[in-house]
Amino acid sequence: MKILILNGPNINMLGKREPDIYGRATYADLEEAVRERAKKYGADVSFVQSNHEGELVTRIQNAVGVYDRIVLNPAAFTHTSIAILDALTACGIPAVEVHLSNIHKREEFRRRSVTAAGCVGQICGLGIQGYLLAIDYLCS
Ligand code: DQA
Repeated sequence: MKILILNGPNINMLGKREPDIYGRATYADLEEAVRERAKKYGADVSFVQSNHEGELVTRIQNAVGVYDRIVLNPAAFTHTSIAILDALTACGIPAVEVHLSNIHKREEFRRRSVTAAGCVGQICGLGIQGYLLAIDYLCS
């Protein structure tokens, strides 16, 4: 089982970025926790973070035939990116969308996810634990 953990803009700033909203765990902490959880299932995880929409689209396209599952936090592109939605739909790899914060409890513009329609489901508001639950689901 090969899983791509794909993170969008500003997720590299975890720990420094609005910790009251996104938590104090760093991106390195996130990687470590996900690797640990994946190990439990004997799954192989690769991490990609990009601040660029096109790069995220390319990574999703290139995942075909390489990865079995995707855990995706499109970050701000969640709310706007038809290109990411189209890439998810085209590639057909089962993906779970994760958000650290509860997007439904925040500003109006964050409450809509354009990209979730290309995913099996969405987990939000549970901090980095959301990524771990996504791994549990995708490996079960
Ligand atoms: C986020 C929520 C988005 O609205 C925001 O733009 C992010 C992070 C989250 O993980 O809570 O960058 O995807």
